[in-house]
Amino acid sequence: MILILDSGVGGLSVLAPIRAALPGIAVTYVADNAGFPYGTKSEMEVATRVCALLGRLAERLRPALIVIACNTASTIALGHVRAVLDVGVVGTVPAIKPAAERSLSRVIGVLGTQATVRQPYVDRLSAEFASDCLVLRHGSARLVELAEARLAGEVVTAGDVAPELAGLRDQPGGERMDTVVLACTHFPLLGDVLAEAAGEGIGFVDGGAGIARRVAALLGDDWERGPGRAIFTRDDAHVAALRPALAHFGLDEVTAV
Ligand code: DGL
Repeated sequence: MILILDSGVGGLSVLAPIRAALPGIAVTYVADNAGFPYGTKSEMEVATRVCALLGRLAERLRPALIVIACNTASTIALGHVRAVLDVGVVGTVPAIKPAAERSLSRVIGVLGTQATVRQPYVDRLSAEFASDCLVLRHGSARLVELAEARLAGEVVTAGDVAPELAGLRDQPGGERMDTVVLACTHFPLLGDVLAEAAGEGIGFVDGGAGIARRVAALLGDDWERGPGRAIFTRDDAHVAALRPALAHFGLDEVTAV
């Protein structure tokens, strides 16, 4: 069994390509909704929470591999988590490298949570892979909320997400931006409305497919088939509303603790 962690439903955008690459793999999806959202918290809060939670889960569930399907937790705490756990950990970091490979205008946008876009990890990825690009950044808590609402059955339109794209486009040089990195795992769940709001000429990249390749390479032929189950760290009405979407992603058994 592999364990996938996010603060909420964002990690489903990572679960889907993993399950496409490894059909039938046993997955425990953990949504730390008691700590949601991560993106407005301090580095200390996120690191402490994620290390403690993953330590407990690793001991109790003994996963073969952990995937931190959250850019905020990964860019802040991946190093700490790897240092304290004796199980392999795959993180999710902003897909700046594929964005730089794709961009013709050499202006790329990084759309993540407020916590992610201020991380030195993003500076390092930009310097290493996009040193000849103008890298614009915008942090959005609103898109995280909209993704949660959409998976709970609410209608989300291009008009709802447009102001968040404007947060990139309205920056100096933003009119030349041709590629946007979805640097929060919640955002690919809004991919169609983001594309509609952006119009032609802007493409989106995220890390899902790359993470699935990494997971498949690490596991090789040695992976267990089994059901998909979801664990939430708090029980509330939102969890009940998410059940149909969770089932759609193959998570039929849902528990809240
Ligand atoms: N899905 C998470 C990420 O990739 C963050 C959402 C939140 O703010 O909790 O950054």
